[in-house]
This record gives sequence, C-alpha cells and structure tokens, in this order.
Amino acid sequence: MTENHHAPKRLIVVSNRLPFNVKIEDGTLQYAGSAGGVATGLASYLAGLHQRANALREYVWVGWPGATIDAAFEEQLKREAREQYNSHPVFLTDEEMDQFYFGFCNSTIWPLFHYFPSYTAYQEKQWQQYRHVNEVFCKGVLEVLRPDDLVWVHDYHLMLLPRLLKQAMPSLQVGFFLHIPFPSFEIFRLLPGSWRRDILDGLLGADLIGFHTFDYTQHFLQCVLRILGLEHNMGQILTPDRVVKVETFPMGIDYEKFSTAANSPEVKQEAQKLRQPLGDVKIILSVDRLDYTKGILNRLAAFEILLDTHAEYRGKVVLVMNVVPSRIGVYEYDKMKRQIEELVGKINGRFSSIEWTPVIYLYRNTPFETLVAHYAISDVALVTPLRDGMNLVAKEYVASRTEGTGVLILSEMAGAVKELGEAITINPNNREEISDAMKQALEIPLDEQKSRIRTMQLRLRRYNVNRWAQDFTHELMQTEQVQNKFCAKLMNFAAKEELIDAYRSRSRRILLLDYDGTLTPLVSHPAAARPTQELLQLITSLATVPGNSVVLISGRDKETLQAWFGALPVSLAAEHGTWIRESGEEWKMPKQLTSDWKAQIRAILEIYADRLPGAMIEEKDFSLAWHYRTADPEQGLMLARELTDHLVTFTANIDLQVMRGHKVIEVRGAGVNKGTAAQYLLAKDQFDFILSLGDDWTDEDMFGAMPEWAYTIRVGMAGTHARFNLRTPRDVLRLLETIAKVSAEIESPEKTLSETR
Ligand code: UDP
Ligand code: G6P
Repeated sequence: MTENHHAPKRLIVVSNRLPFNVKIEDGTLQYAGSAGGVATGLASYLAGLHQRANALREYVWVGWPGATIDAAFEEQLKREAREQYNSHPVFLTDEEMDQFYFGFCNSTIWPLFHYFPSYTAYQEKQWQQYRHVNEVFCKGVLEVLRPDDLVWVHDYHLMLLPRLLKQAMPSLQVGFFLHIPFPSFEIFRLLPGSWRRDILDGLLGADLIGFHTFDYTQHFLQCVLRILGLEHNMGQILTPDRVVKVETFPMGIDYEKFSTAANSPEVKQEAQKLRQPLGDVKIILSVDRLDYTKGILNRLAAFEILLDTHAEYRGKVVLVMNVVPSRIGVYEYDKMKRQIEELVGKINGRFSSIEWTPVIYLYRNTPFETLVAHYAISDVALVTPLRDGMNLVAKEYVASRTEGTGVLILSEMAGAVKELGEAITINPNNREEISDAMKQALEIPLDEQKSRIRTMQLRLRRYNVNRWAQDFTHELMQTEQVQNKFCAKLMNFAAKEELIDAYRSRSRRILLLDYDGTLTPLVSHPAAARPTQELLQLITSLATVPGNSVVLISGRDKETLQAWFGALPVSLAAEHGTWIRESGEEWKMPKQLTSDWKAQIRAILEIYADRLPGAMIEEKDFSLAWHYRTADPEQGLMLARELTDHLVTFTANIDLQVMRGHKVIEVRGAGVNKGTAAQYLLAKDQFDFILSLGDDWTDEDMFGAMPEWAYTIRVGMAGTHARFNLRTPRDVLRLLETIAKVSAEIESPEKTLSETR
C-alpha cells in the first residue's frame, strides 16, 4: 500500500491488443496501427498523459503485438516496443492464439455478451487456454510492475487477470474496464457453472470495475448477487476480504483530434478529392469492423428497401460502406464477409447505372485522415449495430462535423445512444424502420441538423476520452481510501501479538463466541452447520484452561446448543440471550418474556415465506426467525427489505424488536439481546481479559456492551462497533488455535519448551 496516493504513479495499461500490429516482412519488423475502440481510445488518452497535471504521468502498455513472433525477434521487438510505443509485448504461440483469441474470446465471450447465444461455442479446451493465457498476461505484467504502480486491465480477453494480479501482489491497486456489453443474468448463466463463477471471481480481484452504461453495471451486480450471493450497497460489493466498487463510465473520444483534423487543410483536400467524382449525390456513411454485431446486412437490406420504395433517390444517394477486416479465421466472420459481398453485388447489380453506383464498398483499414474526410463529406452516418458496448464511430462522426450539419442515425442497442439522444434512433432489427430513418435523415432541414449536432457536440467535447480515463483512474485511486477505512480495523500482526500478550498476562479471562458465521462458515441450511470434532476439541481445550470461561452466545435455540455443546465445560446463551445455561447448571431466563404475540407475527412471516421459494420460518421459544439463505438472493433481498418494513411498522407499539442478521430476519421480545446476555455473564466475575467474537448485526449488541478495553472482533469486512475485523471464520480459528497453544505453554512451560527443542 502506498503512503501517499497523490504522489505521481505509473499507470500500467493491459489489453489484449497493443496500439500497434507487428509483421515480420523481409526479415524486418513492420509496425502498423490497430483498429477498434479500445486501442484508438486508449492511445489518445495515453499520448497526452505526460502533459497533464495529473497524479499519473508515465505509463507502460502491456499486450499482444498482433502476431506470433519468431523467438529470434523477441528481444528486438521488446526493445523497439519500449522505446517507440512505451509498450511491453506478451508473446503467444499460434496454438494459444487459436484457442484463446479465436476460440474462447471471439467464439464464446464475444457472441454471448453481444446476445448471440446461437453463435456461442462452449469448449473446455478453449476455456483452459483462456485461463492459461490470462496467467501468461499476469507474468507479462509482473515483468514490468513496480510495487506502487496502478494497473488498469481492459476488456473481455482478460477477465481472470485482476484476481491473478491481486493474488500475486495483494496491495496492488487494480482496475478493470469492460468495453463490450455485460449481458443480463439470463444470458450470462448460459456459461457452464464453474466458468461463470471463475469469471465473476476473476473480475472481483479488481478494486474498481467499470462499464459503459448503467444497464451493464446493473447486469453485472445482478450476476454477482445471483451467482456468488454477494450483495452490494450502491455499487460497492463487500467481498470476504475487500470492498469492490462497480461504476458506470461511458467512454468518450479524443474530440479535439477529430474536430481539428476535420478543419485541417490535408483533410479538406482529401474530402474534396473523395467528393468530386461522386457528383451531386447525398452520401450515407458507415464505418465498422467486419463483425456480425454491427448489423451490416440489415443496413444493406434497408438501403435496398429505400431504393425500391423511393425511386426518386436512385442516382441521388450513395452508401459508402467502410468495412475494416477483423478476426479473419473465425467462422462466423468469414461467413458474414461472403454474405455482405453477395448483398452489395446484388444491390449494385439491380440499381447501378453507368454514372452511379449505389453502394461503394471499401474493405480495408482506412488511415486516420481519410477516415475523417469520410466523416466530413457524409450527409448521414448510419450506425446500426445489433449490440455494441459503446460505438465510438457515432461519436467520431459528430465530432468531425465542424460545420454543424449532418445527421446521425443510431441503433438503440449501442451504448452510445445513452449520450446521443438527438440522433435518429432505430431498432437495428427492423429494416423498414432503418429505411424510413434514412429517408427522414435525407430530408431534415439544415437548421434542425445543426441544432441536433451542436447539442451532441457540446456533450462529447466535455466528456471526452481524457475525462473518461481520468474519472476512472481517479476513482481507482480513491478506492484505496475506501479499502483503508475497512482495513484500518483489520486485525494485523501487532494487534494479534498484543491480544496474545494480554491473554497470557491475565488470569480471569472470558471468551464470548458467536457460532454461525464466526466459528463456522455460513451454510445454506442451518442444520448443516454442525460443529466438527476438531472444533469441539478446540473449544474444550480453551474452556479447560484454569482461569478461562468460554461462552457460546448464539441466536440458535437452546435444544440445538444443548445437543451440540451440552457436554462441553462451557456456558451457553441461546436465542440471543433469552436463555442462559451457565457451565454445569440448568437453563434459565434472565428476563421473563412472553410469546403470546407469536401467532400474529407468524401469519405475516408465512405470507412472505409463501411468496419466496426457499424461505423458511424457524420457531424458537421466544422468537420467530424468517430465513432466506437458500432463496434467490436478489428476490430474497427485496422481500427481506419489504418484510422488515412491514414488521417494524406492525410492532411499533408492542414490546418486540425486529433484527436483521445474515440472510435472516428475527422477531423477539425487546430488552433481551446478546448485549444484555453478555452483561449478565460479565457480572459473574471480575474479568480482566475479554475476547468477544461475532459476525452480524445481532453481535453488534454484544460489542456495544463491552468495556472499551475488551478485544471485540467482527468477522467479515463490514463496518462495526467492534475494535477489530477479521476476514473469515478460518482466521478466527487460527487465532483461537494460537490462543490454545499459548494456554498450553502457560499450563506446562517445560513440556512445551522441550517439545520445541
Ligand atoms: N477505425 C480504425 N480504422 C479504420 C476504421 C475505424 O481504427 O479503418 C477506428 C475508429 O476510428 C474507431 C474504432 O476503430 O475509433 C472503432 O470503434 P467502435 O467503438 O466504433 O467499434 P469496435 O471496433 O470497438 O467494436
Ligand atoms: C472491440 C473490443 C476490443 C478489440 C476491438 C478490435 O472494440 O472491445 O477489445 O480490440 O474490438 O478487435 P480485435 O479482435 O481486432 O482486437
């Protein structure tokens, strides 16, 4: 952990694709730019990093160089990548690329996350390679990493990397951004169970996870809740060991770069060169990678409908279609290329004349100036993806319209639509609708064009790619503070030593231990949490140390506690202290309670249990509990909130209290809780050492009732009145084992000494 989060840090960007592609030609390394939103957007941001007054000044970009590189060239490439591109290449073999990139990334995740389940392949071998390549990337990052670097991982190729990095270096701050949609639970769940859990868990290795739109963020949170059972509070997920923030950051473009370029003499000249041979026609433009998600076929079909149904546009309008080669070798991409070419041929065959060709199809990478010239000469931009995480092309078109004219037609399935409400929006599946939109766009008066474009320009200029990246990295640096807040209470080595020293030097000790979630992890059915022999032995060994009193203080009924711990030399407090059985004595009630309210409350709980499959009611002598551990987590949480509200209102004038524990709501008589029970037991002696351990809200009563010097510890990383947190029941057991060992030393120091010798 760094001491000062404002000190300049280095940013390590990790993405599958580097900003360049390398080829070996005639025995030399040849570099070319990369296409696609991630590479173009990040490159712009990073290029200006050193000039900004920012906590980040330097960067290294870690990624794949775009081809399999002969070992003889690796060192040269590493050097040139470092010197010319601030980059560090990760080398992958053909086999790895085949199974990882063409396989799992682009035949499983890409189609599934874009809602093409029928194109999705599920191959174990590819998944294994995905895991392996994420490890290769982890090694690549570690080769350049310094301890207080900030790491920002990008996109669906590297969803396991955040966890791997965190494991390698727990104090590292790691951010993750997904550039494609995060699908709804119903789609995500199509992945085999272990894959979907590993992917979510991999992502949760990050401290901050970003998505382009609010919907994707919500989908992710929903999947985390339903699949991992982890709840969130305003986008903050409490994992067993950390807080993970999940937020929406819509990616922008380098606005100035496009608007400046559009006004430059080179681009103006290029634009004129492109425009002239086309004559007096209106130009409709599209630019995308050749990808089935982009809706290219529907777009062509819609253009055909326009020419079919509106003969007046024949000879008057041209569709300029820039298609950038992409992922050649993936079956669906190759198939789509053939289909596009057939359809272009069909339309041009049907409508062309000697002077006019309706579709100008360009299948190639377009250099930047030419691209901007295309934007500049086009009356309409037609952006029709069936699904798109964001779509930067739509934004680039708007930014390049320096005269303020032009019309954007934009799919409602593109993330960009959330910020570009002034576009004509279309459903990309509906060809007639696209065709109508084209007609409308061709006829929009100039002043309306200007007012729409200007409004969008203002927005894009403000929230540009730098703002996007700065917001993300700033937020990532802030997460350190959130973590610190939670970690400040985490019991560290020194605090543990102090506790052990205190234990060793005092003689009247009491250990108050909650059971579920503290001594044993929470399980789906309460009856399944039966203590193991090892645990019973550990408790017994602690309880038999002279000067020790051990109390199990639980919400469970007295029958269960009696059955599990009745034979042990410990005191028991059941039903949150309603019943107490001091060691060797009978059960008694420190405060008389009634249970005549039960019938009425039970009726309410039953209504809610009927509404939620998996919910169940537990009846104890003086309380009723409504459990929802095995229910659908999301629905469970929703109904639990509703039920709490209902119960609190209903019991306002009765002497009852409503308590929320872990996946349980409990109603019982007021005036009795773990705090009163603890006080009752503490009053039995002049204790000079108190250890109190618990994991949920009901244990907070106990912590609140302790003298300040007591060692109070809450299990899990929640906010608490306790002095310390421990992460998991496993850590609790380790602490208790240490205490048991120390006890053995106190009892017979010689024996232990000779053993250690
Ligand atoms: N682009 C490119 N070369 C081209 C055409 C386009 O690099 O020949 C760029 C374009 O400027 C845009 C990016 O590729 O920045 C495409 O990003 P978008 O978000 O629209 O789609 P993606 O390809 O990421 O799915
Ligand atoms: C999308 C993905 C990027 C990817 C780009 C180009 O924008 O989100 O991660 O780099 O497409 O695809 P490619 O497979 O050529 O890297």
